[in-house]
Amino acid sequence: MSILFDDTSRTFTLTTRNTAYQMQLAPTGHLLHLYYGRRAEGRFDSLYLPHDCGFSPNPYELRDNRGWSLDTLPQEYSGTNGGDYRLGALLPVTEDGVWGADLRYVRHTIEPGKYALHGLPAAFDNGGEAETLRVTLSDPAAQVEVELLYGVYASQDVIARAARVTNTGAQTVRLEKAASLCLDLPFGEWDLLHFHGRHCMERQPERGPLMTGVQTVSSKRGMSSHQHNPFVILCDQGADEDHGECYGVMPVWSGSHKTEIERDQRGSTRIVSGVNDEQFSWTLAPGESFDTPEALLAFTHEGLTRLSQTYHRFLRGNLCRSRFSNAPRPVLLNNWEATYFDFDEEKLLSIAREAKALGVDLFVLDDGWFGSRNDDNGGLGDWFVNRTKLPNGLGPLIEQINGMGLKFGLWIEPEMVNEDSALYRAHPDWALTVPGRKPSVGRNQFVLDMGRPDVVEYLCDTLTALLRENRIEYVKWDMNRGLSDVYSHALPPERQGEAAHRYVLGVYSLLDRLTTAFPDVLFEGCAGGGGRFDAGMLAYCPQIWCSDNTDAVERLAIQYGTSFGYPASAMGAHVSASPNHQTGRSVPLGTRAIVAMSGAFGYELDPTKLSAEEKQAIREQIERYREIETLIRTGDCFRLTDPRGEHRIAAWQFVSEDRSEALLNVVATHPEGNPRPLHLRLKGLDPQAVYTVEGQDGSFSGAALMYGGWTLPPLYGDYPGAQLRLRRQ
Ligand code: DGJ
Repeated sequence: MSILFDDTSRTFTLTTRNTAYQMQLAPTGHLLHLYYGRRAEGRFDSLYLPHDCGFSPNPYELRDNRGWSLDTLPQEYSGTNGGDYRLGALLPVTEDGVWGADLRYVRHTIEPGKYALHGLPAAFDNGGEAETLRVTLSDPAAQVEVELLYGVYASQDVIARAARVTNTGAQTVRLEKAASLCLDLPFGEWDLLHFHGRHCMERQPERGPLMTGVQTVSSKRGMSSHQHNPFVILCDQGADEDHGECYGVMPVWSGSHKTEIERDQRGSTRIVSGVNDEQFSWTLAPGESFDTPEALLAFTHEGLTRLSQTYHRFLRGNLCRSRFSNAPRPVLLNNWEATYFDFDEEKLLSIAREAKALGVDLFVLDDGWFGSRNDDNGGLGDWFVNRTKLPNGLGPLIEQINGMGLKFGLWIEPEMVNEDSALYRAHPDWALTVPGRKPSVGRNQFVLDMGRPDVVEYLCDTLTALLRENRIEYVKWDMNRGLSDVYSHALPPERQGEAAHRYVLGVYSLLDRLTTAFPDVLFEGCAGGGGRFDAGMLAYCPQIWCSDNTDAVERLAIQYGTSFGYPASAMGAHVSASPNHQTGRSVPLGTRAIVAMSGAFGYELDPTKLSAEEKQAIREQIERYREIETLIRTGDCFRLTDPRGEHRIAAWQFVSEDRSEALLNVVATHPEGNPRPLHLRLKGLDPQAVYTVEGQDGSFSGAALMYGGWTLPPLYGDYPGAQLRLRRQ
């Protein structure tokens, strides 16, 4: 049993292999958070001494006990306006103007299996180990009941959390905030590690000590965003890759999000994470419920690498529903950087022919194949073939590509519409536009109101027909702008605060229907590169295009930052032409391949323009990738250096779960004159085992390679790279 309730001490204890999580019911019925951290048996209520803290009020029934305050004791899910002045997790407002909630215990249940959420992606039970705890709290004055949901995965060291808020009154209740979780860490000095960025430079790690007050990681863009990934880590200030306490919070949510971290007057830390409450409100009629998205919590006392590996395994095995999550992926060639919008059937076929000769498995036709799409000013919404470019249609093109022995994949951007499209002309009210105001455009496109069931229905029918009528084995699902002018023409005025949230629910429902109907199609997520690289999308798409920046040197930093939360198998990564189209930088083909192989591998260039030597090199790269694909997809990833750091090299490793195989990758980002030896201590090997190292005579113990290390010969030239396979003897 990983969930226990002790009637005497009124404590709930959730135990995983290496962690413990404890809550306690106070005499008032408030649910106190006692502990989340390294596994230890027993009770943790000795941690909290009642202490009279000035200006921190006391619940009415404990008014004689001035040390007992909601403002100072750790809370499991704090309401608002009940005497806890720190960040609230829930803000309901009744028709009578009752504002906030003072939540007290009603009941609980413990069940085998994992809870599910209505209309939202959530982790599932894989192997019968998950258990669910539901603790119901309520505030009759606020007319709400809150069911706190905990899914405990003992062997994985992950606890999934969510909340279901139900209107138990006779009037409507408006939710102004409903977070997925609140987590109090009453003691400790923590660093916040978060992943910010911009288009073409996503998920750059930034780490710094928490200051007193509130720090926020958020997006208001209606998408998880290039600017701020929803995944955050709190780690102790001495933590590094191999040591130290680390907490991860990973929202399973692709829309506007907010994680607030408050360090309060007493040095206690609170994390509140979930849907961004700005531009959000949700009206609950009597009896109706609202489910928050899920957030995945993980803790380790063994450093950042272990935390990342915990998430990598969990996302692959317990979140992504696609059968491709744990299967080899096709090596693909995408025509975007080869042709952009400028192609015809002959051009595509010549690219495909060369791709096949190189050993590629799947050809992807990117943007520009539909409607009046000759540039990015028109056509979105019209998901029928552009007969000027492809006069014979999609079917004959696919047949010819299949005839070469290649699979076929197609790009779509279903959530968007151009003003210049048949769809917009027929349904202008399907776009998010504020009445009486011209909407802003992004890439000259509007956003469809995905919260409307008729829009989702239309897209589902159109895309189902596309996938039924054509042998499409891969779909790249793009989204090239954030939401603005959020106003749904299908919602009444009092529900407009729901439009952005309903948008994401609509996206999930469309993805759910299509991925269920077409389980053999590999769906790759994308949003102008990695603008929606999050656990919500990963539930449907086993891989997501990591960034529009395909420069291998820049990708080192992007993939490094991404790896803190997400596995290599999730990162779409391609070898593109040199000089690179985004940066103008030239990087050797071998180095470009080393970097792209640390993800879902492919090419994004015009193979008809390659020299004979380059073609031969690519044939060898693909052969090699097939040999190491399983190791990269399923192995544990170890970050050996920070590629942006003073080491001037990027080094990372994959090690198979049984430690029989490893792959060392190195790229020199700043080669130097009279170079110092490149010395690296390897990680994750079996210290007792003996390994051979590719290209070296003899064999070496795992202990020698990890405790002593490995010295590489000096790397010369522009961005040289090396990739070495290690095998246990
Ligand atoms: C943005 C994507 O990230 C690119 O790979 C490409 O598909 C373009 N959109 C096409 O418009």
